Amino acid sequence: METLKVGLSKRSYPIYIGERLLENDTLLNREISAKQVLIITNEVVAPLYLELLTKALGKRDQHSLILPDGEQHKTLSCFSSIIDKLIDHEFHRDSCVVALGGGVIGDIAGFAAACYQRGIDYIQIPTTLLAQVDSSVGGKTAVNHAHLKNMIGAFHQPISVFTDISVLKTLIPRQYSAGIAEIIKYGLVLDKSFLEWLEEHLEALLVRDAQTLAFAIRRSCELKAAIVSEDERDLGQRALLNFGHTFGHALESLGQLDQWLHGEAVSIGMSIAARTSCALGFISDADCERVDSL
Ligand SMILES: NC(=O)c1ccc[n+]([C@@H]2O[C@H](COP(=O)([O-])OP(=O)(O)OC[C@H]3O[C@@H](n4cnc5c(N)ncnc54)[C@H](O)[C@@H]3O)[C@@H](O)[C@H]2O)c1
Repeated sequence: METLKVGLSKRSYPIYIGERLLENDTLLNREISAKQVLIITNEVVAPLYLELLTKALGKRDQHSLILPDGEQHKTLSCFSSIIDKLIDHEFHRDSCVVALGGGVIGDIAGFAAACYQRGIDYIQIPTTLLAQVDSSVGGKTAVNHAHLKNMIGAFHQPISVFTDISVLKTLIPRQYSAGIAEIIKYGLVLDKSFLEWLEEHLEALLVRDAQTLAFAIRRSCELKAAIVSEDERDLGQRALLNFGHTFGHALESLGQLDQWLHGEAVSIGMSIAARTSCALGFISDADCERVDSL
């Protein structure tokens, strides 16, 4: 297991990356001290991993809420159902919300934790590749409003992130590829040698080779953590992480919310952004082809 740190003075937190972390009761119980926890997950992830987690979290006041699956449920209505559950079970300010799922669950559970009693602790256990390399790190939480994504939200950092690489085995290929798009984004924007490494190891990454995957996730999280530490509130260099997102968001807004996966929209967006830069003379044709070939 590897441990990274997101450095934000009093709000700093660790990211643990490794295999079978969901079964690691020693680690989970060491890091999660709250006596009362609410696990937020969804109908796809719950049958796969909820029991493992509840077993590992052991004897404490545990509750879980299983939300419907999908971006179309990242809504104020699902947010309200989390708040209702917290109130019904008399959760206190020292309780903890645990987000077990992809970016949708992480965003909505994080937002509920940000709002309940003006902010309680939450933990991210990301289960998609995209969530592991992107959405679980950095404290952006939100729900969607009508057809506009992430319009209602808050910055609220988790107290820790448990990135269990083993859970990626059950992810369907389309979702897995969407996560690779975000990894490629880090290489393109922030780290030339990581980009070269990705070009060499793309095949191994696509077949989910554990070692290759572990390195790609770790490097992506390191790069994101460094940016978040400098610009938590997205007022400056965090904008670099939005490469491909301008066109990507336009694409997502044009279609139904579930037509394009976020990573798919971003990868098309990166290609369009590269072509635009090429047309304006900022990058060469060869650079443009390099982006497209990845
Ligand atoms: N907060 C941020 O900084 C940030 C950054 C990027 C994206 N996002 C948000 O993240 C969301 C996209 O996240 P996502 O791509 O993870 O989508 P998602 O959460 O919808 O998950 C994708 C699908 O995979 C399923 N799934 C999750 N884990 C699984 C597993 N281990 N095995 C099998 N199936 C599994 C889910 O149930 C879902 O059907 C969007 O709402 C986007 O706005 C947030």
